[in-house]
Formats: sequence, C-alpha cells, structure tokens
Amino acid sequence: MAKEADFSETLTTYLKDKGFVYGPEPEIYGGLAGFYTYGPLGKRLKNNVEAVIRKVFNSNGFYEIEYPIISPKEVWKASGHLDSFNDPVILTEDGKESYRADKLIEELTGIAADHFSDEKLLETIKEKNIKAPGGKKLALKIERYSLMMKTTIGKNIEAYNRPETATTTYLPFKNYLNFFRDKLPFGVFQIGKAFRNEISPRQHLLRSREFTQAESQTFLFPEMKKEWPAFEEAKKELLPLWTEKMQNEEKKPEDISLEDAMKKKLLKNQAYAWHLWLSFKIFTDFGIPKERLRLRQHHHDEKAFYSDDTWDLEVQLKSFGWTEVCGISDRTNYDLSQHQKHSNEKLTARTLEGKEEIPHVIEIAFGVDRPFFALLDLNYDEREDEKRTLLTLPPWIAPIQVGIYPLVKKDGLAEKAKELMKTLGNKYLCYYDESGSIGRRYSRQDAAGTPLGITIDYDTKEDNTVTLRERDTMKQERVKIENLEKILGEKLNG
Ligand code: GLY
Repeated sequence: MAKEADFSETLTTYLKDKGFVYGPEPEIYGGLAGFYTYGPLGKRLKNNVEAVIRKVFNSNGFYEIEYPIISPKEVWKASGHLDSFNDPVILTEDGKESYRADKLIEELTGIAADHFSDEKLLETIKEKNIKAPGGKKLALKIERYSLMMKTTIGKNIEAYNRPETATTTYLPFKNYLNFFRDKLPFGVFQIGKAFRNEISPRQHLLRSREFTQAESQTFLFPEMKKEWPAFEEAKKELLPLWTEKMQNEEKKPEDISLEDAMKKKLLKNQAYAWHLWLSFKIFTDFGIPKERLRLRQHHHDEKAFYSDDTWDLEVQLKSFGWTEVCGISDRTNYDLSQHQKHSNEKLTARTLEGKEEIPHVIEIAFGVDRPFFALLDLNYDEREDEKRTLLTLPPWIAPIQVGIYPLVKKDGLAEKAKELMKTLGNKYLCYYDESGSIGRRYSRQDAAGTPLGITIDYDTKEDNTVTLRERDTMKQERVKIENLEKILGEKLNG
C-alpha cells in the first residue's frame, strides 16, 4: 500500500511537470478537489484515446450522437437518479470531516465494500476499528449523499448536469427509430462530459467531479439476446472472467473463451457475452496488456438500481491496484419504460412478429479519464540502470510520435530538419527540437513518451540518410529519407 501511494505521488507530480494533467483547478485560487486540466500532452493523449474508442464503436456498427449536458429535473426523476443515485457518507465524530464509507473501508482494509448495505458498512467499520485518515474517530452513522450536480435554467427551472451520458442517449429514442428505419437492434454511443458531486474525491483522475464518459447503448428485443450474429466471429476469443462464484471461493479469474463461457452458463446470453468482448477489445486496443485486465461479475446485491446483470472490467494499476474502468450492464427495458411513463410519449418499437414493445438496452459504460490514467500509470518507467525515465506508450496513442532533431543548428542542418518536419508533420504528431545536446533532447522525448526520434547530421547532406532512434531500446539505425514514410507507417500504426 505504501509503495502504491509513493508511486501515485511520483506519477502525479510527473504528469503535471510534463504537461499531461494540471490541477486540481482552479489551481491559482487554491483548487477544488475533483477538477483537472488536460495539459498540452494530456489533451492530445486524451484525443488519441477517444480516437480508439470511436474506431472500435464505428467499425462495429454503432453511431455517435451528442446530447446536451444539462436536462431538467423531470428527466432525472424519471431515470431514478434523483432518488437513488447517492453515496454512503460517514462523518468524523466532531462533524468536521466527511468520507465515503465504502471507499474508506476499501482503502484501509482492501475489502471491496461498494455493494455493502449501510448496516454492513457500519459493522465493518466497527469490527476493523476504522478511523478517518488523519486519525479522528468516526461517528457511527451513515448518511446518503446525492451525487447530482444541480443548476438552474433561465430564472427558475430546476435542472441537473448529467451524472451519466446513458440517460441522455435514451431520450431521443423515437428519432433513432426513424434513422434506423424501425429496425432493431441498433447501437448508439456518446463521448461527453458527466458530473458527480463526490463528497471527497481523491485518487486523482480516477474519481473526479467532472469527467468524460464514453458509453454505448444497444437497443434490442429480449429474444434477440440469445442468438447474436456478431457472437460467431468473437466466440473463440478468451476473456479473463471472474464470476461471483469464483470470487466467493477466493479463486483467481480464468481465461475462458466466449463459447465455453456460454456452455458453462457463466454468461447469460450471446448478446451480453459479445458486449463483454467488445469492451475488452477497446481496452486492449488502447494498448493495455491483457495480463493487467480482468472482468469481474458484480455481486447480486452490488448492481446499480437500473441493472439486471453487470460485469466490471478492471485494470491492475501500479498506483491504486485493481480499479474499475468499465461496466457492462443489461439495463433491460428499465430506462425506456421509465421515460415512457413520465413523458407520456410512446417509446416502443415493432418486433419481427409485429408486436409493439419497449426495447431492452445493453450498455458499455466507461470514462475516458480512467484508461488515460491507466496508460500513464502502466507505462511510466524509471530505468535506474539506464539513468532515464521513459513513458513506454504504444506508438499509436502517444501524444508526440516523432521527434525531429538537427544535430546542430548551423550548416543547413536546421533547414533540412524543418523540411522533414513539414512533410512528416502532415501525417504524424511530430515535434521539432534544436535546443540542447542531442542526449538531452532524446531524454526529454523519452519522458514524454515519444516512440521515435529522427536526427539530421552532416551525413544527411551527403547521402540523404538520417538516424532513426527507438525510445524503448535506444536502438539507432541509418535510413534513407525516401524510405522514412514507409518505415514510420510500420512502426507507428501498431
Ligand atoms: N451509465 C453508467 C454509469 O454512468 O456508470
């Protein structure tokens, strides 16, 4: 634990220093926990993470939409968030400090407590003699604290910043029917901001009050879940499944093919199994190693109020250990039924048999901030033997892909390097640097995660070759400028 805490401090200092993440903001006014700025390198990396998400969703037939962030009270009353979206909070005896009871237990004992009832939370706090982080005694009373962030539209319309994109993806359902020509199934996703009024957010980007979600919603009829055509292509793929039963028996997750998981009845239907696979694919496409991922089934009493079945995709971070990064939920017809009831608008579609029914929804819900943080956490590498710090980001996601350096500024080398910058800069994220020794320039880019460096020297003028240097191995090779585009294509596109 201490080691993890040390590492998380090193990492967050590094992220600020290198221009990945600033805050909490507004920093110059003292800062408010849970609000961060993505700095120059951070914003690029975040865009690249989003590009992977868009690529996977688009290539699997989903369409992206963008709905307003703020909606009036009626929407959140109907969705259930106003009444049920809250956290268990515990105060210190003097009433001056407040904490999320489940997170406090988790941080101090390692026990996953987010599915505990209030009684069980209190029982555990007593049994384990848990105190507030500064040592103060806790008042043995849990209060439920709403996560909804309130605002006002116009003079007096009560409204809320959305706590998830999902609900706002359901609201235009009638309009989708027109676009998809009344044919289910179809998938829609959003990437956008969401807000949660966390009582005491800690753990850097993993728990912020304003964050970016990426959530897909597949609309389908229940009878379509059993046989899902896309399942066929994915059925041999292995997933690290950790069922509720395995967790209870303290067994480790197992790599199981989708096909076998269905045979063993570990997953309830093909459609759900395919969505688990798709979410796993997004995370491996980010470049997160499979060994660091697991799919954990929720305990039967842990599921969100709208869900019939949920599995979480978790990643093992160096800073904070196993951390939830994505939830895959069968939300049944809960949401559309609620909105039909509260809006008095018909939210049905026609089944193949011609019956009007409210469709079900399978959701893949995750944020952009957590995989972003995971990529930095897992790729930060202090190599003492090589006396350098590097960020081994996958080349397709790195915020700068190619560093371009003239060995010296004079004798036309800078001009030659700038020429190259112009050509390659159209295709890749390039950075030109002519200041300091070449070793210093390499090491600055190693720490920024730049996978390749190109150095222009006196030989370049003679034979049109450059030195190509790899970040991770420090291997250098001489290549012809005319071959550069082809070589970069092979090395950077993964
Ligand atoms: N849409 C699910 C969530 O926000 O967790």
